[in-house]
Amino acid sequence: MALLELHGVSKVFSHGMGRVTVAVDNVTLEVGESEIVSLLGESGSGKTTIARMVLRILRPTKGRILYRGRDIWRLGRRETLWYYTQVQGVFQDPYSSFNPIHVVERPLLQALSRLKGVRGEEALRRVREVLRRIGLSPSEVLGKYPHQLSGGQLQRVSIARALLVEPRLLVADEPVSMLDASTRIDVLNIFAEMRDELGTSILLIGHDVSLAYYVSDRVVVLYRGGVMEEGDVSKVLDEPAHPYTRMLLDSIPRLDSRWRGRLRLHEPLHAIGRSGCLFADRCELRFNKCAARPRLVEYNGRRVACWLYQ
Ligand SMILES: Nc1ncnc2c1ncn2[C@@H]1O[C@H](COP(=O)(O)OP(=O)(O)O)[C@@H](O)[C@H]1O
Ligand SMILES: [Mg+2]
Repeated sequence: MALLELHGVSKVFSHGMGRVTVAVDNVTLEVGESEIVSLLGESGSGKTTIARMVLRILRPTKGRILYRGRDIWRLGRRETLWYYTQVQGVFQDPYSSFNPIHVVERPLLQALSRLKGVRGEEALRRVREVLRRIGLSPSEVLGKYPHQLSGGQLQRVSIARALLVEPRLLVADEPVSMLDASTRIDVLNIFAEMRDELGTSILLIGHDVSLAYYVSDRVVVLYRGGVMEEGDVSKVLDEPAHPYTRMLLDSIPRLDSRWRGRLRLHEPLHAIGRSGCLFADRCELRFNKCAARPRLVEYNGRRVACWLYQ
């Protein structure tokens, strides 16, 4: 059994007067034990909405989310507390995850007390230990307020808070997109070590294909709320099948190539409603079948939702 399973999960936001946004559209995915799964997609593709549903901040409109086989929206009070000892989140902007009027160790001590029942000297000892583990010296962090730390330092403290609880699953929503390049790699290395040494599973959300490639075991490619392609990194990113995945890979600037004039951009040609393929409006390979929605099917070792392969 996978650790986390989403089955046909959708989220529809209503804005009144019958206007709606389908943020997440019938998403099915799994995260196994000790596995880093990247959820890749451009801005607006529904990544944060998925993270918030997995963290029980938002309720799905449709579908089920199971953790170790249990529906996370049917947990009682005690089980919900248990769920948060198992599943923790890290968010994009560390400054918004900390209260500016409290010293940064306060939420760490609170998490230890509330979720682990650890207080006092022992709690402080564990905080120091986890700070060192993620490359911070306790003296540069303890007693400081959020604005006294750099973005990279504060993001590490927020990862430290999640680590203290020893979660089995970390949901990290664009955890490195506000950090500079060298700090990015440090954070990804911490994630890989958590997987390899502690067996932590990570749902790593982002839009940067090369970062996903660096650290993930599997990737799920999202577009307009739907899964386009999903499978092992060695399949999806080394031999992409879906035209959208190929476009994502083509859009990465490489160290061995310099600008040689404007690339052809795949801009929306015309809108096809949500009943068709979600990528059809931007797809160069579009043909008549694309007016209907393709299902995710097995193709050459991965799953892909595209009429070219069914
Ligand atoms: N609370 C909300 N109310 C209305 N629309 C929302 C809300 N949250 C997200 N959306 C919309 O849902 C879509 C997906 O958003 P989001 O999950 O934040 O995407 P991503 O994280 O991939 O950038 C976007 O069109 C966004 O505008
Ligand atoms: Mg987001």
